[in-house]
Amino acid sequence: MTMTTLPIQVQLTETKKPKPDSETLEFGRVFTDHMFIADYTEGQGWHDHRIVPYAPLSLDPASIIFHYGQTVFEGLKAYSSEDGVIRLFRPEENMKRMNLSSDRLCMPQIDEELALSGLLQLIEIDKDWIPNAEGTSLYIRPFIISTEKFLGVAPSRSYRFMIILSPVGSYYKEGIHPIKIKVESDYVRAVSGGTGTAKTAGNYASALKAQQVADAQGYSQVLWLDGVERKYVEEVGSMNIFFKINGEIITPAVNGSILEGITRKSILELLRHWEFPVTERKVSMDEISSAYENGQLEEIFGTGTAAVISPVGELNWKGEKMVVNNMEIGALSKKIYDTLTGIQTGKVKDPFDWVIEL
Ligand code: COI
Repeated sequence: MTMTTLPIQVQLTETKKPKPDSETLEFGRVFTDHMFIADYTEGQGWHDHRIVPYAPLSLDPASIIFHYGQTVFEGLKAYSSEDGVIRLFRPEENMKRMNLSSDRLCMPQIDEELALSGLLQLIEIDKDWIPNAEGTSLYIRPFIISTEKFLGVAPSRSYRFMIILSPVGSYYKEGIHPIKIKVESDYVRAVSGGTGTAKTAGNYASALKAQQVADAQGYSQVLWLDGVERKYVEEVGSMNIFFKINGEIITPAVNGSILEGITRKSILELLRHWEFPVTERKVSMDEISSAYENGQLEEIFGTGTAAVISPVGELNWKGEKMVVNNMEIGALSKKIYDTLTGIQTGKVKDPFDWVIEL
């Protein structure tokens, strides 16, 4: 892949932080020494691209981001491996999706190639932070915030685009072991025409209440249903969801309210490459429950950048507890996990050209 090199000011830190122990890493608590910043001003476009020491920001309290949440973000990962090569998984897809999210939130488009070039320079500078223990990676969080000082409800006329890096372990404390999920019946995440397909803070803030209730009941996450009929499966909020029923993989079709996950898309491509029967369609909880009762609900797994492949061992729907595959990871989920993480870390050949090597 050829890459445009971004004219970028680099200011390196004088005080490097201690690196965390790779073996005990949590998700998203530790950040590297540097960050990427670019500013946008109406009439001028994006300017002042720079890499600077990681530090708190100074923003006007009236900045639109604090009041009306005009912001978008992305999540992707860089992996270290035994051959010493640093690998990124489909980063151009994240830049493309960030622009789609920005469009929904009336925010300016970034130049995807230049943003990627800035990201690669940042990773090169902080590459010693990429952890190497099994299941760890460098999580990359690009995001754009609205910075205009204004309390009227209108698109901001100034923005800040930033990229921060965090060495991470598993998103769920269960790691690759199955998690328990509660099907949400009281709250909804999104409806078609809303912002469900955009990666924007409001979708995650509005999910917290249901998440908190589920957490108190011993569930890692909630499974959202459609916001109109409260009948059809949508997504888990931090991941998309797949069911293996009677030898076939089924995942909810994207419908205007589900986030179009890059891992979701990759798993669909992988399954089709394996000629495994896979369908994207509406799937109701009634159908899942009958498949369970008939002994046909074989596996459930979630997919996401942070979550990778996360098997679901129990689904609680209105008190009916469906225990899947004896609370053990299913054979197909394991094969997908091994293949995907193998491609991401260079242990498995990448027939799709998904990986960028640094
Ligand atoms: C990701 O998987 O990268 C996400 O952005 C989900 C987030 C809730 C951690």
